[in-house]
Amino acid sequence: MKAKKIYFGTNLKMYKGNADVVNYLSDLSCLVNTFPAENSLEFFVIPSYTTLKDAIETVKSHGGNHGICIGAQNMNPNDNGQFTGEISPIMLKELGVELVMIGHSERRHIMKETDQEENEKVLSALKHQFKTLLCVGETLEQKNYNISDEVLRTQLKIGLHGVTAEQLPLLRIAYEPVWAIGTAGIPASPEYANEKHAVIKQCLLELFGEESKKIPVLYGGSVNPQNANLLIVQSHIDGLFVGRSAWEANAFYHLIKDALSHA
Ligand code: PGA
Repeated sequence: MKAKKIYFGTNLKMYKGNADVVNYLSDLSCLVNTFPAENSLEFFVIPSYTTLKDAIETVKSHGGNHGICIGAQNMNPNDNGQFTGEISPIMLKELGVELVMIGHSERRHIMKETDQEENEKVLSALKHQFKTLLCVGETLEQKNYNISDEVLRTQLKIGLHGVTAEQLPLLRIAYEPVWAIGTAGIPASPEYANEKHAVIKQCLLELFGEESKKIPVLYGGSVNPQNANLLIVQSHIDGLFVGRSAWEANAFYHLIKDALSHA
């Protein structure tokens, strides 16, 4: 096992309704609690807004050595106001949400969110003491122009502008190359992923100094049972952020178990 904490998370996107989420989390809670208590692990699941209340109750009722942290897929940065259809940090806090994901590629590319908007959300999420998962990643076009590193650095420098050293323990980064995500995605090779994680870590070091070494960087984008163990052994990869391969509790458990046996 790596000496450092290892992170496993999944974003359920717009797939599971309330009943499905409750069943999934009941099963997953029992399964992850079979991992030895001394393993330093963090698990998180990010379901749709409408399921958050029951999701939190479900994981709480299971307890155990390895609790699952429940996150929200997005958040309006304002505490309240004339923002019809939006959800505020105060509302998420009231439910007991612990983590907020910011800047998933589908929000950046389908909802056209900008780096400046992600920055506002990051600052608000940290101010409200949420674990804050900022997603970054280049498109295929950017990769082909050979500007992936510049894109990642820009997303980090703008997205994290104004974050203070004291807030770093709450920060998590997910590197998710856009071309690797979803049904049309091609997973990044473990070597390529590791190289980009190194770029991200170098940028974090420039922004925050030595303290930045505590910020976990997770890889996401077509993680599957075949590549999970090859990715997790990479020196700069601190965890896996999984989509489709995690949406059945037993499959996610086996993916994690296998990855951990190599980590
Ligand atoms: P995927 O999704 O594993 O299904 O490619 C990853 C993500 O969107 O976070």
